[in-house]
Amino acid sequence: MNFEYQKLSLSHAMTASVDALVVLWPSQVLPDAKAVEPVSRLLAQAIAHGDFELKAGSVLSLYSQPGMATRHVVVSCSADNQPGQIRSAMLAAWAALKASKIKRLGVHFVGEAAAQDLQMALCTLADASYSYTTTLSKPKARSLKNVRVSATHESPELRQSVTHTQALVAGVELAKEWANRPANHATPTHLAHAAKSIAAGRHFKCEVLGPKEVAKLGMGAFMAVAQGAAEPLRFIVMRYNGAAPSQAPVVLVGKGITFDTGGISIKPAGEMDEMKYDMGGAASVLGVFKALGELKLAINVVGLIPATENMPDGLAVKPGDVVTSMSGQTIEILNTDAEGRLVLCDALTYAERFQPSAVIDIATLTGACVIALGAVRSGLFSSDDTLAAQLHQAGETSGDPCWRMPLDDDYADGLKSRFADVANVAGRAAGSVTAAKFLQRFTKSFAWAHLDIAGTAWRSGAAKGATGRPVGLLLQYLLNFAQANGAAKINTKPKALDALRTEVKSKSRAKGKA
Ligand code: BES
Ligand code: MN
Ligand code: ZN
Repeated sequence: MNFEYQKLSLSHAMTASVDALVVLWPSQVLPDAKAVEPVSRLLAQAIAHGDFELKAGSVLSLYSQPGMATRHVVVSCSADNQPGQIRSAMLAAWAALKASKIKRLGVHFVGEAAAQDLQMALCTLADASYSYTTTLSKPKARSLKNVRVSATHESPELRQSVTHTQALVAGVELAKEWANRPANHATPTHLAHAAKSIAAGRHFKCEVLGPKEVAKLGMGAFMAVAQGAAEPLRFIVMRYNGAAPSQAPVVLVGKGITFDTGGISIKPAGEMDEMKYDMGGAASVLGVFKALGELKLAINVVGLIPATENMPDGLAVKPGDVVTSMSGQTIEILNTDAEGRLVLCDALTYAERFQPSAVIDIATLTGACVIALGAVRSGLFSSDDTLAAQLHQAGETSGDPCWRMPLDDDYADGLKSRFADVANVAGRAAGSVTAAKFLQRFTKSFAWAHLDIAGTAWRSGAAKGATGRPVGLLLQYLLNFAQANGAAKINTKPKALDALRTEVKSKSRAKGKA
C-alpha cells in the first residue's frame, strides 16, 4: 500500500481524487454550524438534533451531499486521540465503508494530530483491509491501494511518520504472509529463499547454511530438533549494513519452526494446524529486514533464523536423549515439544561472533505466555535493564506493547538434570519464565532480551491469522537506536553531503577570521 501526506483543510480534503474520505474527529473540537464546507454543518446539525454525540464509537456516514466532491464521507469520533480510540474510530469508519470498492482513500485528522496518531490510524487501516490470498485458487485482490493522509498543519514529523508507516506496513504484511502460509508452502527452504530475495539489494547480505555446515558448527541442539524431519534444516544469516563496520550490530534471532507437531512428545490434534505459525519470530525478522530496505537506517543489523520442522519419526530425538549444544553445554531433552529453546540456544551462541550491542530473540515459545499475558502484550524477558526499558518504550510508542517478566535465578531450579548440564523443561509452573531461564544460559557475553510472542503473533477464532507482531515494536526500537547513534539515515547523496561539509568548514573558517 502507498501512503502520502498532505497539509489540507477539511474542505480541501474532500476532493475527487479519493473514492471516500474518513474524517477522524476528536471530542473537544466542536463543528462550526456556519461553515461553508458541508461536513461540519451536517455534523453540527446532527449534534443539535441529538442524533449524534462526539464520543468514542460515534460514526456519521454522509453520501453525495451538495458541496462534497468526495461521494462518501465517514466522520468517526476519535474521542481524546488515545491510541486505542484512534484504532476503534478507524475500525468503525472502515466497517461503514467496506462494502464499496475503494481504491483511493483519504484519511483526514481534525484538530492537532501527532505522528503516533497517524501511524496508529494507518496501521489499523492496513490491518483491517488485509486478507491472505496466496493459496486460494481465485484470489480477490485488495482494492485499497493508496491512502492520502491529511491534517491542517504542516510538520516534518507527520511526513516522516507517514514514510515510516509505509515501510512498517510493508514489513508487517510480509511477516503476516509468511506466518499465514501453510507449512507445506513455508518450509525452511522457502524461508531461506524469501530471506535471499529480501536481502538482494544494496547494503544487504544473506548466507544460508544447510545440514552439513550446521553440523560443522556443532549446533547439536538445533540438529536434534531437525533430525526427525524429512525437510532439511536451514540456518539463515541476514545482514543489513547501513553504518560503518565498526558500529556494533543489533542481532535479531527469530524462532523458525515451520511446523511444530511436538515431535515424539506429540501435541493433541485439536488446533494443531495453528502450529504453522511457530515461525512467527522468523517472520518478524524477515519483516524488519523488509522495512529496513525501505528506510535505509544508518545502523547495522544481523538477522539469524534457525529453521526446521519439529516432527515425530523413527529417527526423531526421544525424551531423555542428551545432546551437546554449540556452547558445549549438554542438554537432556525431557520433552521434544520444548523445541524452540533448543534451536534458539545454538543461534544465540552463534550471535557471539558479531560482538553485538544487543541480541533480541523473538519466539512463539510457550503456551504459558498465552495464559499469562493473552493476546495484548508480548512477554519481555531481559537481564539488561536499559535494553528492557528501551524495548518496553518502543512497544508503547508503536502500539505493539510488551510486558516485562521476571528472571530470578530461583526460577531455574526445575531445569536441573541428573544426566546433563541442564534439562530443556521444568514443571508447569511459570512455564514462560523457565523457558527464558533456559535461554539465558546462552547469553552471558552480550546484552540480551527475549520476546515471547506466542499470544500476540496470531489471532485465533473466526478472524484467525497472523498479526505481523512484533515488527512494529522492533522497528521502533531500531529507529530509536539509529537516532541515539547519530545519523538516522544512510547518506544516500554523498556529493551533496560533501558540499555541505565544505560549506560548514568554510563558514567556521570565516568565523575564525572574524
Ligand atoms: N510452539 C509452542 C508454543 C506455543 C503454544 C505457541 C501455543 C503458540 C501457541 C512450543 O514449542 C511448545 O510446544 N511449548 C510447550 C513447552 C512445554 C513442553 C514445556 C508448551 O508451551 O506447552
Ligand atoms: Mn513445541
Ligand atoms: Zn514450538
